[in-house]
Amino acid sequence: MYRSQKLALRYFIAAITLFGVMIAAGLLSALYYIDPALLYNVFDFQMAKILHIDTLIIWLLMGFIGAVYWFLPKELGREVVGIWVAELLFYVFCSAVAVVAVVFVVVQYGGSNEFSMWFINQGRKYVEAPRWAAVGVVAVVLTFVFNVTATAWQARRITGVLGVLILDLVPLAVLYLDAFPKITNMSHDLYWWWWLVHMWVEATWEVLIGCLMAWSLMELMGTSRRIVETWLYIEVMLVLGTGILGLGHHYFWIGTPQYWLSIGGFFSALEPLPLLGMVVHAVYDAGTHHMKTTNRPAFYWVLAEAFGNFIGAGVFGFMMTLPQINLYSHGTQWTVSHGHFAFWGAYACGVIAIMYLVLQRTRSAEHFDSRAWKWGFGLLNLGLVGMVGGLLIAGITQAIYERAEGGSTLQAFVAASEHPWFRSAMYARFIFGIVFALGYFALVYDLLAIGRRAAVAAPTQAAPA
Ligand code: HEM
Ligand code: HEM
Ligand SMILES: [Fe+2]
Repeated sequence: MYRSQKLALRYFIAAITLFGVMIAAGLLSALYYIDPALLYNVFDFQMAKILHIDTLIIWLLMGFIGAVYWFLPKELGREVVGIWVAELLFYVFCSAVAVVAVVFVVVQYGGSNEFSMWFINQGRKYVEAPRWAAVGVVAVVLTFVFNVTATAWQARRITGVLGVLILDLVPLAVLYLDAFPKITNMSHDLYWWWWLVHMWVEATWEVLIGCLMAWSLMELMGTSRRIVETWLYIEVMLVLGTGILGLGHHYFWIGTPQYWLSIGGFFSALEPLPLLGMVVHAVYDAGTHHMKTTNRPAFYWVLAEAFGNFIGAGVFGFMMTLPQINLYSHGTQWTVSHGHFAFWGAYACGVIAIMYLVLQRTRSAEHFDSRAWKWGFGLLNLGLVGMVGGLLIAGITQAIYERAEGGSTLQAFVAASEHPWFRSAMYARFIFGIVFALGYFALVYDLLAIGRRAAVAAPTQAAPA
């Protein structure tokens, strides 16, 4: 195994651990909707939610970085250039995340001054980490981009997938800088903040996961590079063609010029197309290979990724992307429903699939099918779909009773929050959240155990390199 691949394993362990922290923080966040007085003034909702969504971003980033460190040396047949810096930064990264988490839990907030921004909370949703830590993330990502480009440069070789990946990593890293400027005008601030959030999840991350799924499909089913790369080019073209101006669907109500209503509505309505392309691609590959694979867990998770991405991001996003509908759905639990489904489908499932691909190489591949992975897969997806369904009902309740009928007054907001549909949906979300958490335990158990018992029984059967 290359050093870079060993580093990948470490990244996966960190990612899965943070995934657990994220679930705990999610369950806690959900409890406030059932009992709003919970931990009042001790640990309020906003801190639990920050912990939940920041760990989400970090564990997915770690999963992506790990996946690239895994595939890159295979793709080029050589060790990654400057891997020692990456190894060092991994520990810096983990320590920084731990320190930030402790600050979020213990200190929570400070005055509205430079000190708070540097050491407590930077204040932009999803990238709240204090500035010192945000600078650290920039260092990690820049090292990562350097590792990838320098390795390709030294190898004097570039493949289609790698070329797309390198072109994608540059804007991905640059967009993160959007977390930094100090803007006092709220419209301006949101305008630029969406460049980070939207352009990550609907442009650069989509291209990145496209590259990772391309590598995965080749390994999983032996799909030919020519087919995978052709699809990748089509998807990337469509993602960038629709996603860049699709940014406008966040500009409807923040004080930007009115033309964004048409631009945002039109281009974002086309955004499901590339995602549909990904589904067709995965199903096509599965069909041409008669669904044959030696890694069923990874295969199921890849399919979940393709469908989850299409339904969660594409269909659930499309539902409220036209300004005529968004007027009523904006910022309700409807948005939260889409947010969960999309992040899960597009990214989390993909990262889990890659973990299974990697484990097949590091454990006994002969006995690579267990009962536990089915429990993990089933409970996680059932829990997620249940939560998303509950949130959708809650969101529609808000759209009807708070917005359409109630005219968006504070009283209407309270009335909608007390509506029986909304309240039962909040209970349903919590219960399905528990199901999801059980799925997480099954997943972790399986990731630790899969292939192991067989390896003990037959120690001579080494995994293929
Ligand atoms: C046990 C499972 C989970 C529970 C109980 C849970 C609960 C919650 C709650 C209560 C919120 C706050 C919503 C609000 O502001 O009203 C939230 C936000 C969020 N969660 Fe989760 N969550 C869980 C799992 C996940 C997973 C698996 C993902 C993604 C892969 C995710 C992604 C998000 C995102 C993106 C937000 C922000 C949404 C927004 O503000 O629009 N969560 N979650
Ligand atoms: C993997 C891709 C995607 C992810 C991870 C994702 C995630 C999210 C999240 C977390 C939010 C809430 C942001 C916030 O206010 O904090 C959001 C909002 C939104 N998304 Fe997506 N999304 C994706 C793709 C799409 C697509 C393809 C569409 C449209 C076709 C779409 C349409 C929207 C719209 C209209 C909003 C604003 C909702 C509002 O006004 O409250 N999204 N998305
Ligand atoms: Fe967006």
